[in-house]
Amino acid sequence: MTAQIISGTEIAKQIREELKQEIAGLKQKHNLVPGLATVLVGEDPASQVYVGQKEKTCQALGMYSERHDLPADTAEAALLSLVDRLNKDPKVHGILVQLPLPKHINETRVLYAIDPKKDVDGFHPVNVGKLMIGEPDYIPCTPHGIWQLLVRSGAQVEGAEVVVVGRSNIVGKPIANILLQKKKGANATVTVCHTGTRDIAFHTRRADILIVAAGRPKAVTADMVKEGVVVIDVGVNRIGKAESGKDILVGDVDFDAVKEKASAITPVPGGVGPMTITMLMLNTVKAAKLAAGLS
Ligand code: GUN
Repeated sequence: MTAQIISGTEIAKQIREELKQEIAGLKQKHNLVPGLATVLVGEDPASQVYVGQKEKTCQALGMYSERHDLPADTAEAALLSLVDRLNKDPKVHGILVQLPLPKHINETRVLYAIDPKKDVDGFHPVNVGKLMIGEPDYIPCTPHGIWQLLVRSGAQVEGAEVVVVGRSNIVGKPIANILLQKKKGANATVTVCHTGTRDIAFHTRRADILIVAAGRPKAVTADMVKEGVVVIDVGVNRIGKAESGKDILVGDVDFDAVKEKASAITPVPGGVGPMTITMLMLNTVKAAKLAAGLS
């Protein structure tokens, strides 16, 4: 079997087109321009690229964006005071504080300080809780993107055996919660594997849908999957530099070998990555509609 390649680039483009139309309509009918504020502390090169992409995508879709770059030695109190100001700013519907934060800043305290109504990352405990009980306002962007990839590529999620490798708060736990919901495009049987799992391959070989967010190249090899599996690879591992100076990226799955057994698989890059930013835009549009009483 040679797998269908699930293109996140293409599916993200489709969703962005839909959002662009919706944003134009909000502007025209309601004079409402969805706004996102991004906050970056320090100079981590990968984070700078991510924040830059978020800002650019906002502009491309006709949204308002503002970017706050703070030095690495910014005091926690100063960051909290910026968050407080953004919480009160009516132009700003969504606030994104790029993670990781420098070690001297308490990440939890900062995430708790964001108004849950503006928490377009879906990381505030109020939004985590709402997702858990099946009434989400904002679904975290990466798992939301994974869900859309599955649904829009025609994967049979309802009733499927889904195995998630990785239990992070950003990916593993929320995607497990999403696919557990008794809803269309979900309603799966979900198993979550992690570093404490005795025999990961025992579980992955049973999967109809395998979602891998382990943070390690070749964490999943061909002998660990069954014929016909649908594979979503969330990994982003930099394994060196090409002659052009660009980073060489690979996922967590041995793509070349696993694609020979899978019925569908996401590539890295061009799989989950482009979906994450798109879902951030979708959450920001939703925040603007909620703030205006339109949703
Ligand atoms: N760093 C890596 N992924 C994310 C994300 O989804 N949101 C934020 N705020 N920071 C991140």
